[in-house]
Amino acid sequence: MTDTIQFPSDFTWGVATSAFQIEGAASADGKGPSIWDTFSRNPANIIDGSNGDVACDHYHRYREDVALMAGLGVDAYRFSMSWSRVQPTGKGAWNEAGFDFYARLLDALDEKGIAAHLTLYHWDLPQGLQDDGGWLSRDTAQRFADYAHEVARRFGKRLASIATHNEPWCTANLGYGNAQFAPGVRDKKQAIQVSHHLLLSHGLAMQAMRAANAATGAKPALGIVLNQWTAEPATASEADRRLAALEWANSIEWFMDPIFKRRYPALSLEAHGADAPDVLPGDFDIIAQPLDFLGVNYYRREVMSAEVPPRKPEGGMGFTDMGWEIYPQGLTELLVQLKQEYPDLPPVYITENGMADADQVAGGQVDDAARTEYVRTHLAALKAAMDQGIDVRAYFLWSLMDNFEWNSGYAKRFGIVYVDYATQQRIPKASALWYRDFVAGQRAQRRAA
Ligand code: FCB
Repeated sequence: MTDTIQFPSDFTWGVATSAFQIEGAASADGKGPSIWDTFSRNPANIIDGSNGDVACDHYHRYREDVALMAGLGVDAYRFSMSWSRVQPTGKGAWNEAGFDFYARLLDALDEKGIAAHLTLYHWDLPQGLQDDGGWLSRDTAQRFADYAHEVARRFGKRLASIATHNEPWCTANLGYGNAQFAPGVRDKKQAIQVSHHLLLSHGLAMQAMRAANAATGAKPALGIVLNQWTAEPATASEADRRLAALEWANSIEWFMDPIFKRRYPALSLEAHGADAPDVLPGDFDIIAQPLDFLGVNYYRREVMSAEVPPRKPEGGMGFTDMGWEIYPQGLTELLVQLKQEYPDLPPVYITENGMADADQVAGGQVDDAARTEYVRTHLAALKAAMDQGIDVRAYFLWSLMDNFEWNSGYAKRFGIVYVDYATQQRIPKASALWYRDFVAGQRAQRRAA
């Protein structure tokens, strides 16, 4: 089906990873600890008791990993920088050895003609900043802007795009709301205040990077990556519909409205009551910086039920190894809904999409047919949204390879390349070969067109 779909000839095909999930080398060459080093070293926090000390050892094997990408024929690679690798405590002196690693990675990508899309913050705050109050402290937003400025100044000319944050919803709600993620706080009011500081830091970083770009003449596209889903009522009941509207407000509008409408959604503010964040005069003017792109991570929809226990989603197409419902048409619906609500939506990059499966190696191969089907159906759903006028420019499959899946440790595999953690051997799964052929097919159609 997707094999015959033609995406625009300049569409970007990529794969994605993040620093803490793959790099390992937790204290190599002057790297400082991050909150994920601290959090994952307490085995009680991670389902399989593992940590990120070695992960995929990408820090030492980046050349091999870039060669893998070249073998897939992708146009682009989305990765993140470890802040505490380049600035060990999150303030003060820069660590040149840390920057050198990313310079070498960029060299390797350049050699293969793979465009580099950098995310500044994929959850691994320097522990030094956490000790000063972390994202609960307004000052951390300024530290983040300084870091963004330095990265843009040094690397802006070599990057196709720079995203400020990855999924601030998770940083706030899983890091500070339910303690599933670092730093492991369980306090709703703090989570809400943190979300405001994250948005503020995004705005300050955008301003800082625009200034750096003006000075250097670099032109990376600048934006933010949000995790998004549609929120549907489980039934037509008033209670379910109310819950779905609140879920959309709290999860989607909470991050989009400040950027596009200079306000928080009224429904959420009302629901938060005394937990609403402290917002200083001028904050929304800082947050509402124009974006060159919006990164959307899509995995599933949310079905809201007021019943006890709540009704489960139908799952007609099944569930992934994370227990997430497979629901490709939600991607079409989400993008169409975003465009309706935010008519000035910038070009969209799908910065993550993919699935966890209980992959097994048999005869040296991994037959992950379900993952291929997941990607095929989501690409068809993406094309359907584009046919309805949504301007989507790029798709990054999550993930290039199996990696440290946060509080699930190594137990959940999202890669199109299998990683044998005992030997660090990489084995492209059937989905990787399918994706390679799919991308090649798009190129052939490009040439024929
Ligand atoms: C997203 C994260 C990414 C990965 C996938 C499965 O929320 O951005 O790091 O964990 O989920």
